[in-house]
Amino acid sequence: MSLESISITNFRNLANARLELDPRFNFVLGLNGSGKTSLLDAFYFLSSARSFTTNSRRSFIMEGKDECIVRGTINRENQPVRVGVSRSRAGASEIRINGEKILKSSELASCLPTIVLSPESINLLIGSPAKRRSYMNWGTFHVEPLFKEVWERANRCLKQRNFALQYKGSRKDELASWTDGLVKNSLKIHEYRTEYIKKLKPIFTGIIDRISGLRDVDLNYLRGWDEKLQLNEIFDRNSEIDTEKGYTSVGFHRADLKLHIRGKPAAETCSRGELKALAWALKLAQGRFLSEKKAPNKSKTILLVDDLGAEFDGWHRKNIQEYLYETGHQIIITAVDQFAFSTFTEMISSKLFHVERGKIRD
Ligand SMILES: Nc1ncnc2c1ncn2[C@@H]1O[C@H](COP(=O)(O)OP(=O)(O)OP(=O)(O)O)[C@@H](O)[C@H]1O
Ligand SMILES: [Mg+2]
Repeated sequence: MSLESISITNFRNLANARLELDPRFNFVLGLNGSGKTSLLDAFYFLSSARSFTTNSRRSFIMEGKDECIVRGTINRENQPVRVGVSRSRAGASEIRINGEKILKSSELASCLPTIVLSPESINLLIGSPAKRRSYMNWGTFHVEPLFKEVWERANRCLKQRNFALQYKGSRKDELASWTDGLVKNSLKIHEYRTEYIKKLKPIFTGIIDRISGLRDVDLNYLRGWDEKLQLNEIFDRNSEIDTEKGYTSVGFHRADLKLHIRGKPAAETCSRGELKALAWALKLAQGRFLSEKKAPNKSKTILLVDDLGAEFDGWHRKNIQEYLYETGHQIIITAVDQFAFSTFTEMISSKLFHVERGKIRD
């Protein structure tokens, strides 16, 4: 699977752009502020109906315009699949796959799994646990066909349980039934996450060793409650505290990932470059796992690599370039100067795009 072409209208500073893509390497060069990250964000929007640069649902629409539209053609086993996503300033969004309206962005995500590697990826390690849960969710969603259903049920139970905790007039049996649902679905999510991280771990350690030589790296998954106790027992014990606070204090929504290096938390001991290598290795491991996994929705992930040169020395850059070359992913990669692509120059299949003040040329 690869993306053959993309056309962009009114997305950040890109008024109108159309790119015919190489199935492997697509290099994007441009000065600061030219529109490189905007271009990658447009790819991400096409794959998820969201932006990776902002949580706002509108700020990626070009200033002064009412709507942004991104369309693309995917080559899936030599069959073209047309995808299109739009968002209006009034808040309306539309997703189409082969002309048919789609209500859930998860269908888009299955169609075009996309991973972003950027300087901001280090937030995966230094940011809130929610970032690491999204990371696990992305991976589990793509490899476990039942995850989405369980995830939706768990969130519904959590929302209703919190509501029942806050509402003084709620009945005991109602609370008990949401608690029961939350226990069942939390345990199921825990099972999926445990299995996923177990398989991801060796892939991750192999990649981090390869791209940065960092050793003695340990990745640990924390389930979101005391593992020595049964989850339903904890809910029984915590029922007063939860009622007082008005929210559920343990469960799948409190899970986390801990990364240690030589026994110390990576977020506290590693340099910026090391953190970036660790975060990129975590994401690359997801891409590799998905490619290798013999799941019904098995597909190659598209990698969006923003600012390859930033914070990496020549040796790290070279290692990453060599790794990316071997992976077989389709890659869109940006840099401020050609120097960052040095090792790639001998590679056979590639395209080079130049961005200048929102305009893109081959
Ligand atoms: N909604 C928008 N409408 C118009 N322009 C926007 C919008 N959002 C962002 N921009 C502008 O788009 C320009 C390009 O930003 P972008 O982040 O893509 O640059 P870049 O090429 O990645 O630069 P750098 O090398 O500094 O990372 C910036 O000047 C930014 O202010
Ligand atoms: Mg940028």
